[in-house]
Amino acid sequence: MNYDSIRPTSAKGTVRTLSQQEELPLLRDHLLRLDRTSRHDRFHGFIDDSFIRRYAERCANDGTVIIAYFEDGVVRGAAELHPPEQSPDAQPEIAFSVERSVRRRGVGSTLFRKLIAEAHAKGYGSLRITTGAQNDAMRALATKFGAQLTFRHGESTGSIDLTEPHQAEPAPVAAPVTPVEAARAIVDMNRAYWRMVMQMSGWGRAA
Ligand SMILES: CC(C)(COP(=O)(O)OP(=O)(O)OC[C@H]1O[C@@H](n2cnc3c(N)ncnc32)[C@H](O)[C@@H]1OP(=O)(O)O)[C@@H](O)C(=O)NCCC(=O)NCCS
Repeated sequence: MNYDSIRPTSAKGTVRTLSQQEELPLLRDHLLRLDRTSRHDRFHGFIDDSFIRRYAERCANDGTVIIAYFEDGVVRGAAELHPPEQSPDAQPEIAFSVERSVRRRGVGSTLFRKLIAEAHAKGYGSLRITTGAQNDAMRALATKFGAQLTFRHGESTGSIDLTEPHQAEPAPVAAPVTPVEAARAIVDMNRAYWRMVMQMSGWGRAA
């Protein structure tokens, strides 16, 4: 999907989907430019270059859709839409990264909006996001788009229901969830997320 004509509110770049194989280096180099704290936030503690290289390579080969924010031909932000087959409960995982130099200019929000449009086009019913419980920026961004976040053991996870009518636009307030729903979401998220991380690390290829 091409979003060349769509520009973030206060950023000057453009947004479009990367072609999977050919443009892998653009995603990889963007992720490698993330500073230590951002890598920690994005990969939940995994920060070494070799992990990031393997991660980007895997994204290029497993059907992950990458929506990228470009400035001067360089990818400065990315939204990842992982295919449902990667998740044990078939709920697609999503993730975001924006380089520090272009943050708080609406890039993350624009990427989120485009990712939801892409997910709708693919017919997905819901999305899952996981982040550190202390990650105020990601929590703010996810909540803005209707994620119902729950917290446990230093992590928060959110589920976005795409069957609701207004998910392409920010949701004003996240609806409360019952304790049972929250517990189920956490269990599902942890299983799916750690399975993916272990696969990235080469620990869980047989899983
Ligand atoms: C999370 C991240 C993607 C946000 O990107 P961004 O381009 O700065 O996001 P936006 O400018 O669109 O801001 C989105 C909302 O979050 C809020 N926000 C952004 N940074 C914030 C912060 N540090 N604290 C509190 N709120 C914050 C903004 O105010 C905005 O809300 P508003 O539109 O109501 O004003 C970026 O900080 C990042 O890449 N962090 C490192 C990687 C990471 O943590 N990824 C999450 C794991 S999936």
